[in-house]
Amino acid sequence: MSKVFITSALPYANGPCHLGHLRSTYIPADIYARYNRMKGNDVLFVCASDEHGTPIAVRAEQEGLPAKEVAGRYYEMIKNDLDSCSISFDNFSRTTDPKHYEISQNFFLKLYEKGFIYEKIIKQPYCVECSRFLPDRYVEGICPHCNGEGARGDHCESCGRHLEPTQLIEPTCLICKGTPEIRESKQYFFKLSHFQDDLQKWIESNNELPPNVKNYALQWLKEGLKDWILTRDMEWGIPVPLEGAEGKIIYVWGEAFLGYISSAAQWSERTGKPWEDYWNDEAIHFIGKDIIYHHSIFWPALLMAYGCKLPYTIIAGEYLSLEGRKMSTSKNWVIWASDFLESFDSDTLRYYLIANAPLSRDTDFSWEDFQRRVNDELADVLGNFLHRTFTFTTRFFDGQIPEPSEFDEYDNEFESRIKALPATVGGYIEKFKFREGLIEIIKLAKYGNKYFNDKEPWKTVKTSKNVAANCLYLANQLSKTMAITLIPYMPVKTQEILKILNVDDDINWDDAAEFIPAGHLIGEAKPIFTKVDDDIITKEKEELYENLKEVETMKDEISIDDFAAMDLRVGKIIGAENVKKSKNLLKLMVDIGEKEIQVVAGVAQKYSPEEVLNKTVIVLVNLPPAKLFGIKSEGMLLATDDNMSLLTVEGAEIGENIK
Ligand code: 2FM
Ligand code: ZN
Repeated sequence: MSKVFITSALPYANGPCHLGHLRSTYIPADIYARYNRMKGNDVLFVCASDEHGTPIAVRAEQEGLPAKEVAGRYYEMIKNDLDSCSISFDNFSRTTDPKHYEISQNFFLKLYEKGFIYEKIIKQPYCVECSRFLPDRYVEGICPHCNGEGARGDHCESCGRHLEPTQLIEPTCLICKGTPEIRESKQYFFKLSHFQDDLQKWIESNNELPPNVKNYALQWLKEGLKDWILTRDMEWGIPVPLEGAEGKIIYVWGEAFLGYISSAAQWSERTGKPWEDYWNDEAIHFIGKDIIYHHSIFWPALLMAYGCKLPYTIIAGEYLSLEGRKMSTSKNWVIWASDFLESFDSDTLRYYLIANAPLSRDTDFSWEDFQRRVNDELADVLGNFLHRTFTFTTRFFDGQIPEPSEFDEYDNEFESRIKALPATVGGYIEKFKFREGLIEIIKLAKYGNKYFNDKEPWKTVKTSKNVAANCLYLANQLSKTMAITLIPYMPVKTQEILKILNVDDDINWDDAAEFIPAGHLIGEAKPIFTKVDDDIITKEKEELYENLKEVETMKDEISIDDFAAMDLRVGKIIGAENVKKSKNLLKLMVDIGEKEIQVVAGVAQKYSPEEVLNKTVIVLVNLPPAKLFGIKSEGMLLATDDNMSLLTVEGAEIGENIK
């Protein structure tokens, strides 16, 4: 019995799971884990939510909530999504867990002590308004490569290039919209370049790595590796555990990998079994194609630096598009797992996402193709075969598996195909060819239907009973073999099939080729797979395309509902003072009728505190609270863009709504 350490990429705790995540990473990893458990291997399958990084910090700041609270909300959502899709983790932890902090800091320290991490002073954008450095997404601007707008400090969405924050043209601070200046800051770098040759050797000699991973990695190695900045000046993250590094945290990608280990360590504490035994036998990472670089270059280099075993292989699922367009969460061109599962069961989703295309290929989700596969393959082929087998057994043989006799060639052929199925499917799963394994099962179900039609048991039961008996004997065997080989793919539906077959569900893979003895009583048939009606597909498509319309019209027009959603009130400025060390900001108290709110407004260049006092202004009051310069702001005053002139009203009541 070998031990297998299986991981799936840590989902960022800033959004729920969508079909792309499930297709590329979680469903394949779960199929592999379930198969290995059924083969009798000792599996440790772990994951965690990835809770640091600037997207989460920025979101928390915008919502005016602690980052851990925001991440906790998404942790619950993600966990729920993955549970609903039957992803059978042995442990699913969080990178905000104290164990993860401890492991990540120790790892960092060890690399520092071994001389693989060094200090260097570099130039970074600094926002004077917010008195802080602006790492990664905290700064936005124009991309120096493609001139695309809205490029972030680490990445340009338009051309997909990696950026350094200081490269941005016309940079602005994401929080206060001010223009950052460039300041020097000490950061810690990992000597990635030192591992160039060792990585080259490892990638070239590792025959387990699939071609997509290998080819990308070799291409990057050819371009030459540069040292990698491993720290950031920000609050949200794991503090750099060194003296003189106050206010610095470990870059999220410098600790997220350790989530594999810390989740496993948490599991070890619970079970008393050492996770190291699993890591040292065979570690397999399931990831999406977008993070091949991180897993094939950074992570192995970090492991080499630390001095421990490298992963056995890395399986990278390629992209899923939606109805022919690139998925985009910001444009709402996405199907969330929880929405999908309101209308369909999780096994149907698992089936479709795997049957659709090999993992190593980009593919598309379309509602019509989903309907076609479910109706043709699951309902007509698989469901029909099972249903007719069970109902005929009940009707003609009192629910007992009939006694076989005198097989003809056709029976022999069918029998040997059934017996061969588990090894064929298992062979594919072991090679991470999940689709190919699944297709073999469906192919045999098709063959089974043909055999059934040719044997005509509804007729032969009256004319030559042994023909009908052989047919139903073998049809029940195939039902069982398929139910078992389908467990990794469809863990819920297969339990229903096994229940009808009255077969114990605690089964090993190798039991799949064992036949059920004649005379065994089966249970009552009921439909397992049902067809998806046209009107459901029409409705789903309409809803999806509605999202797209909203986004497309949003560019130049807003709906009346969008306007109505803004809670604009007449307010009176009843207190005003300058914000210390800020040229732009005034801290104001504004009476909005029902209460007084604090607003930080960027109008100090235009007005003194005395000048704004007692002005009757227009305030947007239903924005989430934000912090500017460390001061809470609960609303926004309307003002002109360039000149910063405040919009004022005459003759209105304080607190009146503006519609
Ligand atoms: O790309 C992502 O979604 C990252 N959160 C994946 C991290 S995987 C690993 F490093 F733990
Ligand atoms: Zn700022």
